[in-house]
Amino acid sequence: MCGIVGYIGTDKALPKVLSGLKFLEYRGYDSAGIAFVKNKSLNILKEVGRIENLDKKINAQEETYVSIGHTRWATHGKPNVINSHPHKNGKFTVVHNGIIENYVLIKEKLIKEGYSFLSETDTEVIPALLDYNYSISKDIMVSIRDTIKELEGSYALGIICDDDLKHIYAVRNGSPLIIARDEKGYFLSSDVPAILNFTNKYILLDESEIAKLSFDEYKIYDTNLDEIRKEEKIFDGTPDSAMKGNYEHYMLKEIHEEGKVFKDTLNYYVDNYKFKNTMPNFKKYNKIHIIGCGSAYYVGNIGKYLIEEYTNIPVLVEVASEYRYKKNFYDKDTLVIVISQSGETADSLAALRKAKEDKIDTLAIVNVVGSSISREADYTLYVKAGPEIAVATTKAFLAQTVLISLLAVKFSNNLNLLKEYDNLEKHICNLLNNNYEKYAEAIYKHEDTFFIGRLIDYALCLEGSLKLKETSYINSVAFQAGELKHGTISLIKDGTPVIGICTDENIINKTISNLKEVKARNAYVIFITNEDIDEDFYDLKLVLPKVHKLVMPILSIIPLQLIAYEVAKKRGCDIDKPQNLAKSVTVE
Ligand code: F6R
Repeated sequence: MCGIVGYIGTDKALPKVLSGLKFLEYRGYDSAGIAFVKNKSLNILKEVGRIENLDKKINAQEETYVSIGHTRWATHGKPNVINSHPHKNGKFTVVHNGIIENYVLIKEKLIKEGYSFLSETDTEVIPALLDYNYSISKDIMVSIRDTIKELEGSYALGIICDDDLKHIYAVRNGSPLIIARDEKGYFLSSDVPAILNFTNKYILLDESEIAKLSFDEYKIYDTNLDEIRKEEKIFDGTPDSAMKGNYEHYMLKEIHEEGKVFKDTLNYYVDNYKFKNTMPNFKKYNKIHIIGCGSAYYVGNIGKYLIEEYTNIPVLVEVASEYRYKKNFYDKDTLVIVISQSGETADSLAALRKAKEDKIDTLAIVNVVGSSISREADYTLYVKAGPEIAVATTKAFLAQTVLISLLAVKFSNNLNLLKEYDNLEKHICNLLNNNYEKYAEAIYKHEDTFFIGRLIDYALCLEGSLKLKETSYINSVAFQAGELKHGTISLIKDGTPVIGICTDENIINKTISNLKEVKARNAYVIFITNEDIDEDFYDLKLVLPKVHKLVMPILSIIPLQLIAYEVAKKRGCDIDKPQNLAKSVTVE
């Protein structure tokens, strides 16, 4: 997601704008740029990659007091310097967050008027259109008003005009934008945390309102260009609390975003029960290898069950740190899928490179746009989880599960299966709003727990168990239910929590038998199922909605994440930053 920061005032502008941009990093971006006024002219600097790359090019102590900056998350056109913002066309320079849906039509109109365009972006039509309208009205405010009447889509804009380098203009529709002030000047920003190092006084710009920021004041106008008064708000909190919203932890916030993440990921690839062209054609492959680490590897296990269930394609799933060193049996009809939230995990990247060296086609399933894995794979499919800050992955896992299930449908060519996603969002919301306290209460005092399940439920056990151990530091083991009696059952003591996941009706009775075996040895059984079974082999039951097997894991994971969260909270753990862990594991 793109981000905008601007500053005009009596302090040097660049340190403030760069500081704001760094705060916006959490939104994800692949390039950054800045425009600033110096010696009565406008300078633009842009760089691909991290803000540090831009920082190195800039003298932050530059004598400039007017600046707008941007982090770009590529939508139209590759992440490169030309496509990065700010964009200048004619007398106008613009930073933009959002998407202009009718940019092709506007571009055609402006080309006829003699304008030319350098970038592949939708954004570049905005400064050109402003310039065109300004050439008619000779008034910046009028040209902004006329321009936004023509723009369709969502936008938050920071604008500077060569004829008026003593003001920054801002306007929004759909995308958020705030205006803020400190003792020395005025800011615009995509969100509150980005300016909290300097001030906590801000106003929210409403749809189509135009802000005009000067060195000594800001004014807000409606679409009739009449000045309006808006109530200033005071943010009472830290940048961290601003980003967490009303949630106590990022992990909880991110779990609660899963309804949206599901919808965004699905809608990015599917429209009206058909795949969009965002999903490539994979017809030629008859063998699949799925590679990942940790949770991403567990998504691979879910993928294996689903792809093998709905196609005749055999799937090998392997942890990346093993795959990169072993002998792999693949040929030109094999597709190697690398799953990685961060797109930077060293072992996953090395496994991808190995497959590429062997000239095998590679597909990356990645969350972070522009990351190394996404850049190096032959195809990249992004999950639409948005930035994930808690170290333990939750919403990205769910998004990856949605996408791998869609790949199973794609490989099967059975588009009827796409109907199975219909009511999921409602079920996700219901699961998110349930109370998981009693399950956490039953677990949190123990030092050992077991998760058991078969087939796809076992893949969920792996992730549920990892979530519990990494956030609460309780030793937890996931087992294929039928294997328990071959040794591990000797660890079951009085009261040991055993969580059984049973959503596959074909083998539910088998897993129930295993739960009875542990119950007979005095385990504390938590039975998670989508079936209506009422017996006495469990101590607690958690009922999941009954949906098609294809989409069941998208729901099954939610209670497991929330139980892990509740247990970690009861044990007073550092939930968002568990000990010894890092969000992006870039070492072997
Ligand atoms: C667990 C977790 C890790 C990651 C693993 C791979 O909650 O987050 O197990 O899944 O380190 O990371 P990515 O997906 O970034 O390659």
